[in-house]
Amino acid sequence: MTDKKQTRAASGAGMSGAGAKADPPVHAASISGEAIEILMHEKRRFEPPPGFSRDAHIRSLEEYQQLYDRSMTDPEGFWAEMAEQNLHWFRHWDKVLEYDFDRPQVAWFIGAQINVCYNCLDRHLTGEGRHKAAIVWESDSGEYRTFTYGQLALEVNRFANVLRKHGAGRGDRVSIYLPMIPELAIAMLACARIGAIHSVVFGGFSAGSLADRIRDCGACMLVTCDGGMRGGKVVPMKAHADEALRSCPTVEKVIVAERLGGRATAMEEGRDSWWRDEMEADDVDDYCRPQELDAEDPLFILYTSGSTGAPKGVLHTSGGYLLYAHLTFKWIFDYKPGDLHFCTADVGWITGHTYVVYGPLSNGATLLMFEGVPAYPGPDRLWRIVDKHQVSIFYTAPTVIRSLMREGAHWVEKHPLKSLRLLGSVGEPINPEAWMWYFENVGHGRLPIVDTYWQTETGGIIITPLPGAMTMKPGSASRPFPGVAPQVVRRDGSPAPPGEGGYLVVDKPWPGMLRGTYGDPEHKRVKEVYFEKFPGKYFTGDGAAVDAEGDYWLLGRIDDVVNVSGHRLGTAEIESALVSQESVAEAAVVGFPHEVKGSGVYAFVVLRQGYDGSDDMRRVLAAHVASEISPIARPDKIEFVSGLPKTRSGKIMRRILRKVAAGETQDLGDTSTLADPEVLDEIVAERL
Ligand code: WT7
Repeated sequence: MTDKKQTRAASGAGMSGAGAKADPPVHAASISGEAIEILMHEKRRFEPPPGFSRDAHIRSLEEYQQLYDRSMTDPEGFWAEMAEQNLHWFRHWDKVLEYDFDRPQVAWFIGAQINVCYNCLDRHLTGEGRHKAAIVWESDSGEYRTFTYGQLALEVNRFANVLRKHGAGRGDRVSIYLPMIPELAIAMLACARIGAIHSVVFGGFSAGSLADRIRDCGACMLVTCDGGMRGGKVVPMKAHADEALRSCPTVEKVIVAERLGGRATAMEEGRDSWWRDEMEADDVDDYCRPQELDAEDPLFILYTSGSTGAPKGVLHTSGGYLLYAHLTFKWIFDYKPGDLHFCTADVGWITGHTYVVYGPLSNGATLLMFEGVPAYPGPDRLWRIVDKHQVSIFYTAPTVIRSLMREGAHWVEKHPLKSLRLLGSVGEPINPEAWMWYFENVGHGRLPIVDTYWQTETGGIIITPLPGAMTMKPGSASRPFPGVAPQVVRRDGSPAPPGEGGYLVVDKPWPGMLRGTYGDPEHKRVKEVYFEKFPGKYFTGDGAAVDAEGDYWLLGRIDDVVNVSGHRLGTAEIESALVSQESVAEAAVVGFPHEVKGSGVYAFVVLRQGYDGSDDMRRVLAAHVASEISPIARPDKIEFVSGLPKTRSGKIMRRILRKVAAGETQDLGDTSTLADPEVLDEIVAERL
């Protein structure tokens, strides 16, 4: 291991910190420099195992290239063929694609009718398919339960009727605040069946974050539960929900699943009812006819953080999203009917939507849903699960790999892991050291790893190896999926040559891409955030470089978004949580390289007169952020300062703060525009 590689290992997603966007905006040249040099230093190559390629959906680079070329020269023909071969449509489309990235506006399969739930359940119910396992659920404490496709369909149909009975229908929003229990998938599929739009809110969010998300979409109903179990501890979800609902007047009905049992939770008369009571009511039928929906009818809203303002409700629609989820799942995970797919992501994030629920179920696959956490009761929990259930496809995040790596390889070695045939990674750049550890210790040097790059907005994976077709390079996410046209560009929009870092954009629409954000019918916000910086192209917010062979290397976010353990947070959100605390006058938050989390949260805080910058104060502020947003957002470091470095026009110079947080205090770049240079000396001296 060279020193250079170590640097990369320690930085991980923190690359974003190093070369990150700033005011004034970053120059492409500053994204390249050291980061690229370190990456391109990585020379290890691994070919797909021959046996794997022979049986894969896509067997060679030539085969991939043919598909890819076709998807570029004739995108409509390519996607029409995929749509016909892979999904069930009630009505055929009149037109495959209409788009205009200037407005921006995108529509796929215009005039077609489809039902996502029908595609995920009904069409698998013929013959023996009815008795195949759809969901294997393992609880926090290690009990497990299996739902066959037939059983799952029955639950979903009945719950769809429950939703209808309470007045939910096409276009209505239903918020879902549940832990990783089967009811979560059931509620989503039931919404899809009747055309209601689901908005799943991650169970780890606080009452305040939940309330913001319910209010933004004006949900008429909330599906929640009495409490969750994580790592042996009870999470009082209903209490959070009750608190949130005090400021959510649109919610008329709350359905409460029983996870803890005992019905000890307080219920509000007239508003709340138990899931089981609703499902067992005599007037609830076993069958609910799937609504024939337009391909562009919204399927779900999922909130995600951006560089400015409150989280936005990313909107995905039915036909294009499902086709993209279906095909990426099949080809990237090389899905075969005998597989058991285990994606460790929570369904509260996009990874869970696409690769726990919709991708696997639309393929008729068996998925494993895990309620707990990787380190409970011991750091080998995930490997126990793999062996116990004979998992064949395992998909997790670099932060999980790094944290298990730290516990030592002996936790993995105890487990044979013979059933595995493919490994995946998602959420942030995977540093070559973590990649190698995963490859050697979990994959025993014989399993392909797919490093899959994508975002909430992209709906599914957009840059990835196809495991039977591509040479793996640790740290590179390889090539674009067919139909996706990424480019690395310079600040002026011109293409960056191989080896030069730049901005990652996508030049053409693909079926899984976002259609907008909720509550923005004119697409103003979407235009501003994704389509304005590089006119006519979708801007990801990430930096990247392409090597001479055409493989992509992701460099992390170049906007004010930090990726903490694969969870996306806007620094602006954390700042506004901090200043909402009475003692805080001003705050600036940046990401910094963190060995396990990828990025940690570093807060520079100016206190009001009369408050002391003590450790107690640090604890108070950290707890305040955790309760305002989520424990994920809790600052790792809080530095008290008497002022923030600003330009004469009053803009905080985050570029400098990022350098300080990263410990790069020798080279702070151009500081000549600072209004008050002394502030900076103090900030550097007090660095934690
Ligand atoms: C951001 C999107 C959709 C996956 C879960 C996160 C980063 C994601 C990779 C990867 C490098 C990655 C990017 C992206 N990211 N996967 N394989 N290599 N970076 O979804 O919360 O919408 O975050 O995660 O920075 O923009 P998300």
